[in-house]
Amino acid sequence: MCGIVGYIGHRNASLVVLSSLKRLEYRGYDSAGIVVNCDGNLLSWKKAGKISALESIVDCHSLNEARVAIGHTRWATHGAPTDENAHPHSDCTGELYIIHNGIIENYKDLKEVLLKRGHTFKSETDTEVVVHLVEEYHKELPLLDAVLHALSHVEGSYAIVLMSKKEPERLIAARKGSPMILGIGDGEMVIASDASAIVDYTRNVVYLEDGEIIEVKRDGYKVYDHKKNGIAKNISLIDWDIESISKHGFDHFMLKEIFEQPDTIQNAFRGRVIYDEARVKLDGLKLQDEDIEKIERIIFIACGTSWHAALVAEYLLEEYARIPVEVEYASEFRYRKPVLKKGDLVITISQSGETADTLAALREAKSKGVRVLGITNVVGSTIARESDGGVYIYAGPEIGVASTKAFTSQITVIVLLTLFFARRKEMSFVEGKVILDDLLRLPDLAKRVLDKNEEIKTIARVYCESRNFLYLGRGLNFPVALEGALKLKEISYIHAEGYPAAEMKHGPIALIDANMPVVFIATKDEIYSKVISNMEEVRARSGRIIAIATEGDLTIHNYADHVIYIPETHKALVPILSVIPLQLLSYHIAVLRGCNVDQPRNLAKSVTVE
Ligand code: G6P
Repeated sequence: MCGIVGYIGHRNASLVVLSSLKRLEYRGYDSAGIVVNCDGNLLSWKKAGKISALESIVDCHSLNEARVAIGHTRWATHGAPTDENAHPHSDCTGELYIIHNGIIENYKDLKEVLLKRGHTFKSETDTEVVVHLVEEYHKELPLLDAVLHALSHVEGSYAIVLMSKKEPERLIAARKGSPMILGIGDGEMVIASDASAIVDYTRNVVYLEDGEIIEVKRDGYKVYDHKKNGIAKNISLIDWDIESISKHGFDHFMLKEIFEQPDTIQNAFRGRVIYDEARVKLDGLKLQDEDIEKIERIIFIACGTSWHAALVAEYLLEEYARIPVEVEYASEFRYRKPVLKKGDLVITISQSGETADTLAALREAKSKGVRVLGITNVVGSTIARESDGGVYIYAGPEIGVASTKAFTSQITVIVLLTLFFARRKEMSFVEGKVILDDLLRLPDLAKRVLDKNEEIKTIARVYCESRNFLYLGRGLNFPVALEGALKLKEISYIHAEGYPAAEMKHGPIALIDANMPVVFIATKDEIYSKVISNMEEVRARSGRIIAIATEGDLTIHNYADHVIYIPETHKALVPILSVIPLQLLSYHIAVLRGCNVDQPRNLAKSVTVE
């Protein structure tokens, strides 16, 4: 989703902003733009398409003296992705420029008023009204007051940065509902949507909260609330460096992240296992024994891949901890009237910790007095900060838009969460130990799945021209089927559906013919024989079968055209292994089709608008 960058300091500001925008490319965008203050003149360039297109029209060397700039990657919501609609947007005088991430919901009403007052608009965006509104108030008021007044009329969400020709020595930024952080360097400041755009310059950051506005100079900053009261902020340290957002010799971030999984799985459980007691400790949950006793139901709320992880949580927590679980799409939860009761615990799952719908659902649940926990990856993200407690998955920055390592880390944490509750309830020491034994071996087993990479590439070559795919699994492998189908759709643009295997007979079976590859996740468990029956049904209709099976299962060759084996592990851990071949299959198919794997069309890594 849109990325914002503002720089003020001692370097060539155009170079800083363009390279920081590249760091934000992974968020997803369709156009980009920049405005630079050079010798008191504001020079702006905007271009539909990739940042490389923008770079080709900005002569950064001639801007060597520019010390202040703002730039933006736009993911279109209001108005097509054209040069004109790209940010920054200026007021009528060309003296004020703004970049914005979010949606101004009442922009039509505001635009009407501004048009009547003689303002002229150059774009179809919702954003442009904000800069004209500031212009209007700035006729009478100093800039900061003008911005505060303008924002008091704005409904919706925003992270904005504003630059003024008359006041070249400062930037003004504000946030409500969209992420924004300030990086504090030595004689330089970077404002950005996330830390990846900042770590090249500093690891000291201030997280802006909703409703805060900030004045930024090269050697200092001031944060205010909406009434212009000063706010003291803590400086936090980003605990990862630039190395962790490099490709390390892999062709794509997605492949690198798939191959990181043995380490990221380990990071998710490191330091949290009390092996001798067959227990786990998750202090960040901030749950005391008496709180745990009162929990009658857990409601998981998430979007996308994180929602699939939540489905795994439903299976695990109900089976092992015997706690009733519900799984909600954040976007649905926030707009219906969910019944929340005393005894409910809400847990959001979000890699980015910034997904707008998940954040809104969290706030909705909190406003009803329910305790809300968060399972997030990005330390210091809004969801992490606003939750009553939570667990970080510690997967490190995930740059590929299609989530891979975050999913397996989320499930690893969900396994820990299951043990956390289950061992306080019915789960025996012995059963806990059996799961933990296998959990500790899991990073090595994940490596063995990754060893199948070439084999999976060969299968990808056979099916890369297919137009449809079906993914089937039962029990814990049903969410894996959904995730496998989502991965394929996201990056290869092939239509794919995930289904519980037995539901196939209620519809999808009509689609099956010799051109339909069907991926079965058919690992050995108590419903294995049922899955085999479903495979027979597909074979009887000439469907082509790719099976993910447990090592040692030779009979599966009687049913499947291709078999990818994964090592045997405890049932509760199978999804962590069974999803890896599906990630690799999607990756290779997408590469063979010439797709942009890391930045698939129309998708955003972090969906910060609803
Ligand atoms: C977007 C991303 C997905 C992600 C989903 C939820 O759609 O492209 O990969 O699963 O958002 O994101 P979150 O950060 O909340 O897990």
